[in-house]
Amino acid sequence: MRKNVDFLVIGSGIAGLCFALKAANYGKVCIITKSKVDEGSTRYAQGGIASVIYRPDTYEKHIEDTMIAGDELSDRKIVELTIREATDRVMELVDWGVDFDRNQDGSFALAKEGGHSEKRILHYKDITGHEIEQKLVLAAKRNENIEIIENRLAIDIITQHHLGIEVNRRTPDITCYGAYVYNPDTKQVNTILAKVTMMATGGLGNVYEHTTNPVVATGDGVAMVYRAKGAVRGMEFIQFHPTSLYNPKESPSFLITEAMRGSGAILRDPEGVDFMPKYDPRGSLAPRDIVARAIDSEMKKQGIDHVFLDVSPISKKEIFDHFPNIYAKCLSIGIDITKEMIPVVPVEHYSCGGVLTDEWGETTIRNLFASGECASTGLHGGNRLASNSLLEALVFSHRACLKAVELLPHTAYCNEVPDWDAEGTVLNEEMVLITQSRKELQTIMSSYVGIVRSNLRLQRAFDRLEILYRETEDLYKKSVLIPEICELRNMINVGYLIIKNAMERKESRGLHYSLDYPPKK
Ligand code: FAD
Ligand code: SIN
Repeated sequence: MRKNVDFLVIGSGIAGLCFALKAANYGKVCIITKSKVDEGSTRYAQGGIASVIYRPDTYEKHIEDTMIAGDELSDRKIVELTIREATDRVMELVDWGVDFDRNQDGSFALAKEGGHSEKRILHYKDITGHEIEQKLVLAAKRNENIEIIENRLAIDIITQHHLGIEVNRRTPDITCYGAYVYNPDTKQVNTILAKVTMMATGGLGNVYEHTTNPVVATGDGVAMVYRAKGAVRGMEFIQFHPTSLYNPKESPSFLITEAMRGSGAILRDPEGVDFMPKYDPRGSLAPRDIVARAIDSEMKKQGIDHVFLDVSPISKKEIFDHFPNIYAKCLSIGIDITKEMIPVVPVEHYSCGGVLTDEWGETTIRNLFASGECASTGLHGGNRLASNSLLEALVFSHRACLKAVELLPHTAYCNEVPDWDAEGTVLNEEMVLITQSRKELQTIMSSYVGIVRSNLRLQRAFDRLEILYRETEDLYKKSVLIPEICELRNMINVGYLIIKNAMERKESRGLHYSLDYPPKK
C-alpha cells in the first residue's frame, strides 16, 4: 500500500497530537501510532505542566529555575522563548477542552515540584496526562483533516538512501520523503510519502530494566533519525525519577508524583531518618538528579531495596482531592497512605537528549521535524526541571507547525521512492533470540549506565552492547519483519548512543554522574 499525505505524524502523544491539530488547518494529516491512539507517556503524566500564571511568579524565575536544574547546559535562548511562549500554549489546551484544577474563586490551583522556586504547576488531580491525552484525542478525532491509524509501526524514515544515493553524516541535504510503516494485520510494510514528517515518538525507558514509561517507549524516533544520519545529542542525560512505587513485580513502575513532595511529603530511610538535608539544603525538594543519587547512595550504604515517602504532612483532604489515583493505587496493593509511608525507589523516567532540533523544531534532515521527548531542543540541558516536558512539546509542536506551513508549498512528493524490499528474508521462529537480547540489553544498561557511572562500567557496557548489536543486525537482515525485532534494534541503537555520549562527557554534570570525575564543589 502506498499513500500520500501533506503531513505525516509519527506518534500520538501530546507532541504529535498538538502538531496534527494545528497542521490540519493547512492540509491533510495522517497520524500513525504503534499501539492504541492514547497509549504513550503523555497519558501517564501525573504532576502537570509548569507555566507562569500569577504573580509573584515571573518568567525570569521560571527561566532561572530551568537553567539551574539543567546545570547551566540548557540553551538560554531556547529556555527563554519556551517559557515566555508557554502560557499562551497552555491556554490553547484549555481552549481544546482540557480541565485543570481550580480554586474556589475560579483561579488555577497551582502546585509545586522539585527545583521550582514558585508554585506554578497546573494539574488535573494526579492524572493530568490522562486529561490532556483524552481531550486532544477527542479534538483530533473530530477533525476531518486528520486520519489516525492505530497499530502501525514506523520502521524507518525514507531518504535519498532508499533511492540508492549514498548518504553519510556530512551529507548536507539529506531529505525526508516520509516513512516505511509496518502493518501487523497484513504483515506488510507500507510506504507513506509526505511533504512534511513530524517525529513524535516519545521516550526510551524500556532500554532499562525499570522505568515509569509505557511499553511503547523504545526510542524508535531517535534510532530512526540516527540511522538516517540525522544529528542526535545529549543522550547521556537520562533522568531517573526518585520516587516510583516499590513493587518489584510491576512493570512499568507506577509513579509517585513529585507534587507530593511539593505538598510537604518527606523522604525517610527505614529508621525514619530524613536523610535528604545531608545531601542538599533543599531537602526532599531538591532537583531530581540530586534526590535520585542521594536515594541510590542510601540504598547502597544501608543495603536496602527502597526508601520511604512519608506523606503524613499532607492532610487527608488534600490526599483525596489532589492525589486520588495514587491513594487508590497504593490501597490496591495494601498500603493505606493516610496511615503508612510509601516504599519508593528511583527508576528511569525521561530522556533529556534526543534528535537535535533548532528553535522551530527542525531536525538536521530536510522536511523532518521532531517534538516532545524524542527531541533535544536545548531546553533541558543536563537535567529536566519537573513538569517542563509537556510544556516543551506544546511550544515546539506549535513552532514546528509554523515552519512546516512555510515549507509546504515548496516541497513535493518523491514518487521515485521504491516499495519496501522484503526479498531474502526467512521466517524467524526463534523468538527467544529477541526476548533474551532485550533482557540482556536492559541488564547492561541498568547495571553499568544507571544513576552512577564510571569509565570502567561504560567500557564494559560498550563491549557487551557491541556483541548484541552485531547479533541483532544479523538477525534483522535475515528475519521476516516483526515489531519485536524492530524495537530491539532501536533499543540497541539508543543504548549505544547513551553509552557513547556518556563516554564522551569527561565530567560529572547534570544527570551524568561518573565516579571518575567527582563534581566540582
Ligand atoms: P508520548 O506521549 O510518549 O507519545 C509517543 C507516541 O509515539 C505514542 O503514541 C507511541 O505509540 C508512538 N510511537 C513510538 N514509536 C513509534 C513508532 N515506531 N511508530 C509509530 N508510533 C510510535 N512530564 C511533565 O511535563 N509533567 C508530568 O507531570 C509528567 N509526568 C510523567 C509521568 C509519567 C509516569 C511518565 C512516564 C512521564 C511523565 N512526564 C511528565 C513526561 C511526559 O509525560 C512525556 O515526556 C511526554 O508526555 C512525552 O510526550 P510525547 O508526545 O513526546 O510522547
Ligand atoms: C511527576 O509528577 O513527578 C512527574 C513530573 C515530570 O516528570 O515532569
